[in-house]
Amino acid sequence: MSVVDEQAAPGTTAKDVVAQASRRRTFAVISHPDAGKSTLTEALALHARVIGQAGAVHGKAGRRGTVSDWMDMEKARGISITSAALQFEYRLGDTTAVINLLDTPGHADFSEDTYRVLTAVDAAVMLIDAAKGLEAQTMKLFAVCRHRGIPVLTVVNKWDRPGKDALELMDEISERTGLTPTPLTWPVGIAGDFRGVLDRRDGTYRRFTRTAGGATIAPEETLSAEAALDREGDAWQQAVEEVDLLAATGADHEQSLFLDGVTTPVLFASAVSNFGVGALLDTLVGLAPAPTGVPTAEGASRELTDPFSAFVFKVQAGMDTAHRDRLAFIRICSGVFERGMVVTHERTGRPFATKYAQHVFGRERESIDVAYPGDVVGLVNAAALGVGDTLYADRPVTFPPLTTFAPEHFAVCRGRDTAKHKQFRRGIEQLDSEGVVQVLRSDRRGDQAPVLAVVGPMQFEVATHRMEHEFGAPVELERLGYSLALRTDEASAPVVATARGAEVLQRTNGEYVAVFSDKWSLRVFKEKNPDLLLESLVAAEL
Ligand code: G4P
Repeated sequence: MSVVDEQAAPGTTAKDVVAQASRRRTFAVISHPDAGKSTLTEALALHARVIGQAGAVHGKAGRRGTVSDWMDMEKARGISITSAALQFEYRLGDTTAVINLLDTPGHADFSEDTYRVLTAVDAAVMLIDAAKGLEAQTMKLFAVCRHRGIPVLTVVNKWDRPGKDALELMDEISERTGLTPTPLTWPVGIAGDFRGVLDRRDGTYRRFTRTAGGATIAPEETLSAEAALDREGDAWQQAVEEVDLLAATGADHEQSLFLDGVTTPVLFASAVSNFGVGALLDTLVGLAPAPTGVPTAEGASRELTDPFSAFVFKVQAGMDTAHRDRLAFIRICSGVFERGMVVTHERTGRPFATKYAQHVFGRERESIDVAYPGDVVGLVNAAALGVGDTLYADRPVTFPPLTTFAPEHFAVCRGRDTAKHKQFRRGIEQLDSEGVVQVLRSDRRGDQAPVLAVVGPMQFEVATHRMEHEFGAPVELERLGYSLALRTDEASAPVVATARGAEVLQRTNGEYVAVFSDKWSLRVFKEKNPDLLLESLVAAEL
């Protein structure tokens, strides 16, 4: 019997945990920048009525309010760097689902951050721009989903604007991702003349009505096929013919194939007009998987009804400039989380008191009293917690470490003000445990000149900005000529260090990392020293 049963407090029996988990849908929207991720997030929240008017979530310059974008730099650039989670309830039929939408940065330079967020979701929504089709970043993120076995739902956005042909887009998805697209809805009206969708599941027509500026939920009307033909004429007829073609090519939804990552259900939408957004929520609730047991580092599974467990997928500081706090975001894997409970921090074996637990979405925060598998909780003042750490109650568990990407850019970081060496050290430690940059050190370089290693150069900008503005330790970076990083070990390190154009550094956890200036010098060295350990790290594009 599980400890959850033994506690048997109201709402915490094993049956309750399973029931609560089964109504949860935890997912992230992945897209190339500008495909409409922020707009869709707004629209989803609007549908669930967590915010009164679209616009409260989006943080782009010139829009009102900022919830998901928080840093000055983000505002200035109009990009979303940080991630947080938005939770809302959504009613479908007799069930009220709990939606956890995890925000991901769109920019390729922060793909490591996105990857970590994707460790915490059960499904992903791949958003593509109808005019642009699959773009570089969409492909990378999609590869991450495939690697992690995350089922993907596809939304073709911006159908209100001229774009590609719908069938052509389906071909592109299948050719470039290897996934078979199984459209659930099909647009009535070509891109740029979006009238509604043919619902392939029952053959009806969902007709949209435009609202002023897309600021409120677009009313939908459901019409029969005959009524649709009367109303839309050729546009309906064309949709019917194309849907017949799809049926002939076997593009029908089959749940097991979707869950196995063989197919991707497709919906058509216009996030800015709130068209098709209700259908997306219905689909998420109807088809996306609920949380299940999570594999552990020991090769077992932590089941939903086991005692509480969670892992840290993101650590972030300075989200609220008024309070210089540090938040650790955890994804709950099993059991019940109750605010105030004392759990064990697996890495140190120390107790961790969860007095301040919050739902966090950008600047918006509210206290959480209880949470279930699939939920994301922000733990405040979590100075001891680092990315990838496990927390548990009662029965110990360790979740597998999160993958770090192979960095491709390297720079020595030095404080510009020697009097600020304490602030410098604290800042570097913080950025390291948050995973903002990878911090590499060596005896030769010393503690005052660590090497920062990143996947995308914009991470350097974030680190420099934060060192100065958050930690009061202005720094200068000196770029190094390395472009490759490999895993090595203590035995190989002294020899690798003698290689031409190479250097050996260490992560804070003691792991040895060898950096090389180019593939050529690495190859020459490897040929001469075949017995040394030089293993690839996971590449950002997998
Ligand atoms: P992102 O988070 O993926 O980067 O994209 P974001 O939502 O910021 O959207 C990028 C641009 O695309 C925005 O325009 C947004 O209004 C527009 N957009 C999003 N969804 C749709 C859609 O369904 N149809 C159309 N026509 N446009 C859409 P912008 O010019 O950058 O900003 P703004 O001037 O609208 O504020």
